[in-house]
Amino acid sequence: MQMLPLADRYGRVATDLRVSLTDRCNLRCSYCMPPEGLDWLPSDEQLTDDEVVRLVTLAAERLGVTEVRFTGGEPLVRRGLVDIVRRVREAGPDLELSITTNAMGLTRTAGALAEAGLDRVNVSLDTVRPDSFHQITRRDRLQDVIDGLAAAEAAGLGPVKVNAVLLRGINDDQAPEMLRWCLERSYQLRFIEQMPLDAQHGWSREEMVTAEEIFASLEQEFTLTPAKEPRGSAPAELFTVDGGPGTVGVIASVTRPFCGDCDRVRLTADGQIRNCLFARTESDLRSALRGGASDAELAERWVVAMHGKAAGHGIDDETFLQPDRPMSAIGG
Ligand code: 5AD
Ligand code: SF4
Repeated sequence: MQMLPLADRYGRVATDLRVSLTDRCNLRCSYCMPPEGLDWLPSDEQLTDDEVVRLVTLAAERLGVTEVRFTGGEPLVRRGLVDIVRRVREAGPDLELSITTNAMGLTRTAGALAEAGLDRVNVSLDTVRPDSFHQITRRDRLQDVIDGLAAAEAAGLGPVKVNAVLLRGINDDQAPEMLRWCLERSYQLRFIEQMPLDAQHGWSREEMVTAEEIFASLEQEFTLTPAKEPRGSAPAELFTVDGGPGTVGVIASVTRPFCGDCDRVRLTADGQIRNCLFARTESDLRSALRGGASDAELAERWVVAMHGKAAGHGIDDETFLQPDRPMSAIGG
């Protein structure tokens, strides 16, 4: 089969596919969703399990995708997740397969996911204090997440990565505490700068906790040394903590954008291709799929969608416009 790379006009080639399996979530992180949730996608607009498997398979077989990450919303609330993982694994034995999850309910599914062929999990956790957890997620479920993390580790879904977002006045003083907690458990912690992707459009540059602030806070308690491996297309800048072996990453999406090295492409739960988190347009693969397009035709559409990828997100530009869809509908 002829391989068509997902190349854009700036010489970048996408090999890392993020697939949102649902826009729903069982938490309500304040930087993501309002307390009442959002207008969820109608179920007939959501791709079926068969459609997801078909698109992911053709991305791997025809478009050079080597890494697939299932996201949401919260991917664990998608009923068919384990089955989707199993079928994608069968179609792509060499694919790197992971999920980004809030880990709620992972105690029940970690074993099945590992057995189905999942390689790793990335867990979103912004605090290890119950009161802060409730303040951020509006749910009292910290212990579920902690148990979910342990279950993932026990099931062999490691190295377990933890993603944390710091919010001013809420958990911005907790970076060292988070790092200590993760080091004790050998979880790889990465801090992510908050991006303008919240449904409420409440993000502001001034309120955002910057990578520089995160370093300053960590360096009060730890010695950080830049890790030797080159950053490549991985967005996290990696540091060795106190001489190692522990590490910490900082993803400075806003203050040190890595768009020039981006190798991602996204598929939304309703079958739209987004060539960037911040893209203002999408390409409708679902209509083509349901209209009877062949795999070759779908692959061609995908290639065209990537060709229009912008050079960068331009968050710092005066003219920056937040995308219409929030993070929970795009996938992290
Ligand atoms: N900025 C940065 N990270 C975000 N996440 C969700 N919304 C934002 C945002 N606006 C994170 C979640 C999770 C991953 C999917 O993205 O905390 O770790
Ligand atoms: Fe759910 Fe993730 Fe949004 Fe939190 S950030 S509400 S866990 S989708």
